[in-house]
Amino acid sequence: MKINGTYYRTIWCEEDQGHVSIIDQTRLPFAFKIATLTCLEDARDAIRDMLVRGAPLVGATAAYGMALAMRDDPSHEHLELAADLLFAARPTAVNLAWALERQKSALVNAEPAERSALAYQVAAEICDEDVALCESIGEHGLTLIEAMAERKPGETIHILTHCNAGWLATVDWGTALSPIYKAFDTGIPVHVWVDETRPRNQGAYLSAYELGQHGVPHTVIVDNVGGHLMQHGLVDMCLVGTDRTTRTGDVCNKIGTYLKALAAHDNQVPFYVCAPSPSIDLTLADGLREIPIEQRAREEVSHITGLDAQGNLTHVEILPTHSGVRNDAFDVTPSRYVTALVTEKGVIEANEAAIQAAFME
Ligand code: MRU
Repeated sequence: MKINGTYYRTIWCEEDQGHVSIIDQTRLPFAFKIATLTCLEDARDAIRDMLVRGAPLVGATAAYGMALAMRDDPSHEHLELAADLLFAARPTAVNLAWALERQKSALVNAEPAERSALAYQVAAEICDEDVALCESIGEHGLTLIEAMAERKPGETIHILTHCNAGWLATVDWGTALSPIYKAFDTGIPVHVWVDETRPRNQGAYLSAYELGQHGVPHTVIVDNVGGHLMQHGLVDMCLVGTDRTTRTGDVCNKIGTYLKALAAHDNQVPFYVCAPSPSIDLTLADGLREIPIEQRAREEVSHITGLDAQGNLTHVEILPTHSGVRNDAFDVTPSRYVTALVTEKGVIEANEAAIQAAFME
């Protein structure tokens, strides 16, 4: 995807020193800054402090974290320590564990002297694969938008999305926004309702930013508006991403996704979840009970960041200082509210038989 006309991925490796570059997403949309990860701890901090976020990009960053760790100390002890340190950075997105497992199984039987080069190679493969998976999700999701466009010839297709499951959440393309970019590029008139996604505003800050960079018409709405728009026939479909989907089709995603799914169900609006295979956890059957939900800091709820009248970036408190806060970062949408999963293998039903047929070799 392009930022002001220049092609970027969200993460890349500087060939000469092995350092890893990322787009610092805590600065968007107010400033476009590249940050450099020079060691294992930098990668852990970037994930934990959300300079990178979005399940696939968290996995890709963890993979490069392992490469940085192996470059500095390829011993077996350090391999285990690095994997444990990265694993603890964020608990919900299964892509993190998936990427670490992939690195560990590649590295564990290699000679220490070979581990650094191998870890960089695996990280690069994970990134390239993510781009391919997301582009494929875009192609499959496009068929859903095309079908909708055939039912409404000449009319704009209104798509609601929650959080940021665009290219900033992946290495490129995105999951939920990938079909929208494909539809826009083929000339289908699309318009996106962007949930602001409190408390961290990934919709308002990130989805709006990247849709704007691509020229896709969009409107930011506060999180409580979606149900009302659906009741008035103003949403043709919902497209969201996922941090972890169980083998039974329960979908864990950014907090607030469940309420949108309920509203979609009540209003017969199709609710699609774009899920690349590394986000599907085949070991889990019950999303509500088995997926760990990340609890984040009070400050994300008590404060908000924006530009003041002079254009200076400002961080202001919006709560009484004595008020308690609870900040669950994700929720689980039971599979019965999911119309279908859009995967790299195609559009499939959100149930065990369909997921098994597609992904359990
Ligand atoms: O807390 P975040 O910003 O990492 O949460 C991101 C989401 O919930 C996304 O919808 C999900 O990771 C899918 S991204 C392709």
